[in-house]
Amino acid sequence: MLSERTIEIIKSTVPVLAKQGTEITSHFYKRMLSNHPELLNIFNHTNQQKGRQQTALATTLYAAAERIDQLETILPAVKQIAHKHRSLGVKKEHYPIVGENLLAAMKEVLGDLATDEIISAWEEAYNEIANVFIELEQRMYADAENMEGGWKDFKPFVVVDKVKESSVITSFYLKPKDNAVLPSFLPGQYVTVKVKVDGHQYLLNRQYSLSDAPGKEYFRISVKREAEPDQPKGVVSNYLHDDVQIGDELNISVPAGDFTLDVTQNSPVVFISGGVGVTPIMSMLNTIAKENPSRPVRFVHSAKNEDVHAFRLEVNELMNRLPNGTSFICYTEPSRQESANHTGYMTKDILKQFISENADYFICGPVPFMKAVINYLKELGVASENIHYEFFGPALQIAQPEGSTI
Ligand SMILES: Cc1cc2nc3c(=O)[nH]c(=O)nc-3n(C[C@H](O)[C@H](O)[C@H](O)COP(=O)(O)OP(=O)(O)OC[C@H]3O[C@@H](n4cnc5c(N)ncnc54)[C@H](O)[C@@H]3O)c2cc1C
Ligand code: HEM
Repeated sequence: MLSERTIEIIKSTVPVLAKQGTEITSHFYKRMLSNHPELLNIFNHTNQQKGRQQTALATTLYAAAERIDQLETILPAVKQIAHKHRSLGVKKEHYPIVGENLLAAMKEVLGDLATDEIISAWEEAYNEIANVFIELEQRMYADAENMEGGWKDFKPFVVVDKVKESSVITSFYLKPKDNAVLPSFLPGQYVTVKVKVDGHQYLLNRQYSLSDAPGKEYFRISVKREAEPDQPKGVVSNYLHDDVQIGDELNISVPAGDFTLDVTQNSPVVFISGGVGVTPIMSMLNTIAKENPSRPVRFVHSAKNEDVHAFRLEVNELMNRLPNGTSFICYTEPSRQESANHTGYMTKDILKQFISENADYFICGPVPFMKAVINYLKELGVASENIHYEFFGPALQIAQPEGSTI
């Protein structure tokens, strides 16, 4: 239990720290990673370079500190982060390393403003917040290892098939090297893939959503080749596309994540995806077709054009098995005469036709796409608790001001 005085200090210093933006956390990361280079085998170096991870950690810590006397209210957000930590192998013993470097960074950036009293209050608060993560993650590690077909941290899988889904997205079918049964997972969950890429000193971790239903003999991930002109090529996605062939091995975590479909429900579901954001949705759609095909389903997908439109045939086949299913396709930049339901960006008018009572909405795609869709849905009267979304990068959820979308 923290004392009244500690709580008072924490609450009064949060605005001062938040004002420093990510200066403290940026300094903290540099400091920690130079003292503990082995952690570079866990952290995503691109997210570091782009400053995304610094922002995610800073905003989460400050938001947690603001609610230091009611930490139970941050549990839903902690759960999402803990899933990511568990899939990456973040352990109890890592927390003191973060704590020590964070406090030192505060002192170094704030100078005289960081009095001994303030630093010791933050030490107590950090330990309190860290314990919330550690307890939850310990339970998640035990579940991942003890569930049927589960394992500890990472396990080698063999690529048994590689299938091109579009000009930029390729699926990898993965079977455990030890031929053990596969654990079940919830549609929408992802795995972390850990790889060693030539020319890179440290191991690289990336998350990939499982794109097929649970209960199959394989896991399927579907990876977009990240190669935008004038930008560095995505390291892991290009490695997977170019260098990983059938018969090769990949180290995979137990599935994780809380962007999941409740398969016990019969209520209508509306899936809205953009580009490669279709992958977790494909798992959800395949699961409904397998387990509850009469459930009302709307599949709304936006792609640039037919060339990059993945899973077109698979969705058509699934729709034939779903008597209450319909699909709606938008092409934002058709390259020739192509068959889509709409040409151009997703609009509020398009979404209006998919609004139904009691429906849940699952959204995944590029950030501007998700922001627009979530705003339209809210304007159309959909309650926040019926809107579920996944962002393919570090999430910033609990730090959002009231009413903001992402
Ligand atoms: C929960 C979750 C699920 C995901 N599911 C999927 C999925 O199903 N399929 C999928 O394809 N992806 C998915 N992703 C994204 C995936 O994890 C990777 O982020 C993606 O494959 C890119 O990794 P990379 O190593 O190829 O690119 P990176 O090397 O990490 O680069 C990422 C992007 O940043 C750009 N970049 C690199 N360096 C810089 C720099 N210094 N400055 C500015 N820009 C830079 C690159 O051009 C590239 O576009 C998911 C992510 C999450 C968090
Ligand atoms: C209380 C302490 C911590 C807080 C508040 C925190 C917060 C966060 C947040 C908000 C994210 C982004 C979540 C997402 O992507 O959805 C994240 C990701 C991550 N965290 Fe933590 N974290 C803490 C401790 C740690 C520790 C101890 C480690 C290990 C040394 C760690 C390693 C990571 C890694 C590797 C990622 C993914 C980074 C990436 O993809 O770039 N975190 N954390």
